[in-house]
Amino acid sequence: MAVDEKIIKRVEELRALIEYHNRRYYQLDDPEISDAEYDRLLAELIRLEESYPELATPDSPTHRVGAPPLEKFASFSHLSPMLSLANAFTEEEIIEFDHRLRRFLGSGESITYCGEPKFDGTAINLVYRHGILEVGATRGDGFNGENVTANVKTIPSIPLSFAHKYPKPPDLIEIRGEVVMKTEAFKRLNRKREEAGEPPFANPRNAAAGSLRQLDSRITAKRPLDFFAYGVGVFPEGLFNTHWDIITTLKEWGFQVSEHCRRLATINEALEYYRSINSVRDTLPYEIDGIVLKVDPLFLQERLGTISRSPRWALACKFPAHQETTVIEDIIVQVGRTGILTPVAIMRPVNIGGVTVSRATLHNQDEIDRKDIRIGDTVLVQRAGDVIPEVVKVIEGRRTGKEKPFHMPSNCPECGGEVIREEGEAAHRCMNPTCPAKVKGAIIHFASRGGLDIEGLGEKLVNQLVEKGLIKDAGDLFFLRREELLPLERMADKSVDNLLSAINRAKHPSLARLINALGIPLVGETTARTLAEHFGSLEAIEKADIEELTQVPDVGAEVAKEIKEFFAQPKTKDLIAKLRKAGVIAEGEERKKEELIASPFFAGKTFVFTGALSFMTREEAKREVEKRGGKTADYVSRRADYVVAGEGAGSKLIKAQQMNITILTEEEFRRRLEE
Ligand code: IVH
Repeated sequence: MAVDEKIIKRVEELRALIEYHNRRYYQLDDPEISDAEYDRLLAELIRLEESYPELATPDSPTHRVGAPPLEKFASFSHLSPMLSLANAFTEEEIIEFDHRLRRFLGSGESITYCGEPKFDGTAINLVYRHGILEVGATRGDGFNGENVTANVKTIPSIPLSFAHKYPKPPDLIEIRGEVVMKTEAFKRLNRKREEAGEPPFANPRNAAAGSLRQLDSRITAKRPLDFFAYGVGVFPEGLFNTHWDIITTLKEWGFQVSEHCRRLATINEALEYYRSINSVRDTLPYEIDGIVLKVDPLFLQERLGTISRSPRWALACKFPAHQETTVIEDIIVQVGRTGILTPVAIMRPVNIGGVTVSRATLHNQDEIDRKDIRIGDTVLVQRAGDVIPEVVKVIEGRRTGKEKPFHMPSNCPECGGEVIREEGEAAHRCMNPTCPAKVKGAIIHFASRGGLDIEGLGEKLVNQLVEKGLIKDAGDLFFLRREELLPLERMADKSVDNLLSAINRAKHPSLARLINALGIPLVGETTARTLAEHFGSLEAIEKADIEELTQVPDVGAEVAKEIKEFFAQPKTKDLIAKLRKAGVIAEGEERKKEELIASPFFAGKTFVFTGALSFMTREEAKREVEKRGGKTADYVSRRADYVVAGEGAGSKLIKAQQMNITILTEEEFRRRLEE
């Protein structure tokens, strides 16, 4: 039976809407709707495509969320080989490259080049038929790669289709580029992983490559990957005349290309370009390890051809590596909140590209064994961009025989508790549930920005509170008294007041924050949010069995088991009892219990807050609106009825004025509440 016209229309409308909001969010960095509203649109489209499979298309934005896991990746033969690049490490070698090409071409004239950053990520080949993405594959050996199409479709900056763009897409084209993880996104991801007790990635390149090659593309979908296009494989003859044409057309088709691509008239301009990109290298949002020079006219590229799997017409000009040698003076062991022991190299301080480096994480015993790192070794250390330093390798020729191998201690350096490495795990863990490192780590996590965000409660203060026996878990924070805090180091009347009121203000977190704050192993911010949405109260999560838990999107058997075990522990029960006694209630839970207030002014209206309110927090204000039947949004859009402008209101206020949305001062808003 043919599908109802209305449904077809709605599906098309949803696709257009979702693509529009994707663009606002990912490309313009200026979202118009909240994450929750976006999720609702996507959920509706997924539901319709499931009910009417005949409406599914390969370029539907529903592919952005990933697909069920594969057993293994299929192999994919690239339509044209993915070549590699010859390298140059000095300016002399760059000049020699230009001489070589001119000799080869027998030409006295300057060659024009394109210069672009050499991205430090992982190469990918995208096959588009009639402008619709058909296959995404890794480089592999250059001839055959892995088919990672489902994963590639989750990357927001990879167009699923450019069928309706100008110039008209050819029947078949391969688009080549690099999948990268921007430095900030990489740091955020690693912070989250550490918070959830998972091992961090060594650098953005590994994070990008590892995330792309997940058999479960729903995991890839959650990783902040980006794509920069830098060239093409097969394409119809005559479509482009120069590399510059290729870059500009890719941009017109909606691909992200580096804003630093330049056309260079001579090799001298190329050298200047090389120096200028090197000087801005550390300020770029992604990591690069050099520039790539490419001969611009394609007819010259063709004449120059390829030798030993590298094109003669392109050159990777590497930047001097941010690497130095130094000596490992010691290896210490740090204990994290989940009890994982992390070995850290303490090195003779060394300046690497303007930054002094004296520590580097060695991750775990396997990593130390693999690199055969010993105390006293001279090692090569590198710093990529502004990211965490890394021990690259041991300089074996500098060994004296006095170096000492390192072994993880069998007792925890913090508490002396037993240390165990579970089968199949890379990490060693302290098994003592009351290990002070775990207790302190858990409290710091509880109070951190992703948790209850208690201002002023940092590591130093938590250490003092635990060491003085004033608190044993995060629940005790809410029972701290002035006279207990005053004698502590760097605490005076004012700072004690501030701390106590920050603790008091933290009593009504969102449920997602509260779950995240508890520090359940393997549950980070994202899973906390899905759990909150699914269950709606802490109590419901506590009571849920494994089966119910695994019904939550992205909660697998392993995570479900961790959640169950966490809530079964007596110390968790204690903690939750203390939180309840202190009146810590997650927002949604409280709302259910609160009486709704009838208010014709608020009912059905959408409010956006901007600037600081002086008489209540923004969260409280939102609750008050919702109690009266109103809605709140995080962004100004046509759907907003009122914008409440507090002190220091910024861009939202301007936008509201431009859009003619009624603006309420804080005073007016308060009067309305009191009506
Ligand atoms: S062009 C025929 N351009 O570097 C030339 N490659 O050895 C093929 N890469 O893994 C590559 N940035 O993924 C080209 N702007 C850029 C690049 C770039 C990074 C990577 C590429 C490959 C390696 C080449």
